[in-house]
Amino acid sequence: MTVEAFDAVDVIAAKRDGRALSKEQIDWVIDAYTRGVVAEEQMAALAMAIFINDMEASEIADWTQAMIASGERMDFSSLSRPTSDKHSTGGVGDKITLPLAPLVAVFDVAVPQLSGRGLGHTGGTLDKLESIPGWRAGLSNAEILGQLEDIGAVICAAGSGLAPADKKLYALRDITSTVDCIPLIASSIMSKKIAEGTSGLVLDVKVGSGAFMKDLDKAGQLARTMVDLGKSAGVKTSALLTDMSTPLGLTVGNALEVRESVEVLAGGGPADVVDLTVALAEEMLRLAGRTDVDVRAALSDGRAMDKWNQMIRAQNGDPAAALAVAEHTEVVTASETGLLTKMDALSIGVASWRLGAGRARKEDPVQDVAGIELHAKPGEHVTAGQPLMTLHTATPERFARAVESLETAVEIGGDAASVPESIVFDKIT
Ligand code: URA
Repeated sequence: MTVEAFDAVDVIAAKRDGRALSKEQIDWVIDAYTRGVVAEEQMAALAMAIFINDMEASEIADWTQAMIASGERMDFSSLSRPTSDKHSTGGVGDKITLPLAPLVAVFDVAVPQLSGRGLGHTGGTLDKLESIPGWRAGLSNAEILGQLEDIGAVICAAGSGLAPADKKLYALRDITSTVDCIPLIASSIMSKKIAEGTSGLVLDVKVGSGAFMKDLDKAGQLARTMVDLGKSAGVKTSALLTDMSTPLGLTVGNALEVRESVEVLAGGGPADVVDLTVALAEEMLRLAGRTDVDVRAALSDGRAMDKWNQMIRAQNGDPAAALAVAEHTEVVTASETGLLTKMDALSIGVASWRLGAGRARKEDPVQDVAGIELHAKPGEHVTAGQPLMTLHTATPERFARAVESLETAVEIGGDAASVPESIVFDKIT
């Protein structure tokens, strides 16, 4: 029988009383939790104690390293080009990964985007790509390496081998109200990203109603914590703080977002999606040592689109196939004339989810066609009766609940100063 180095009750009590945990305690508790020796209810108590009493920087670093050590680490050092990745803390209409990965690959920097599915009001990159006929999310490590060498970009499912302790802990945090906690979010995201083995990482830390962090101050703290964790693990890391008070672009929902991403790759698309894609690409390329490049040109001259087509085909997808379209739509119109000052990201994300674009439990299926098209964005003048949004679904009985969540989503004639002038608020290096 294994003699355990610590007792979970003592570790919980230490954090409950506001003391810092030692590296030995942290290594043990993560390992013992992964082995099932620390029970779910004990980890729930510890997560709540961390939520309430916070962690010191050294504890967060130790916690992150312990979660990395719970699983495998990928190694891209055999590739002939540097790797640079992006991680978004999650938002509504955030389809940026789709145009971004092929765009960066144009400049001979490999992009390993190991992604997830959506849960709750934020969409998942894999759900979006699965609306492309034939596209396959699951690749072996050898296939990932091969595609990175041949094409330079891969977006696929993160294998269950990366930071399994985080997988278990994240599911527990989800049901114990302990998600929204800087040490736990930072260590969760960074353990997976460091284990993934990228040499450069740009964090897109969202700020606003549709994000974990509702204000700039807390988002800045989260970004600083993650950047420091990345750098101390030898990953070149920086962060952009970006707006998530309004959905990104003009579409929310799986196939709708793929359509908009393809517009961006064709040199068009909404200005906020293009601006954020370009800002993140420039930062990823800077971390990989490529500073003298014209990123926008690769969108307008078709080079990024060529990479996209190769990337989709390599995973059995047909980039030329028509995307599914919803059979049922309903239009929401402006109730008055004036300056549009709010299109609330959280309410619109929840409405899209209720239309069938997202899932409540991880086993639930999602609809490719469900979602919301926006016809106006804050800062534009609108006229009473003008269409503001079109709701899409395969199951029209969902309209009523979706419309309910949109009741306070729109504001006309509010504070013009509350409309952000730029999508990127700040950069943390
Ligand atoms: N995304 C993660 O992977 N972990 C968190 O804790 C929050 C967002």
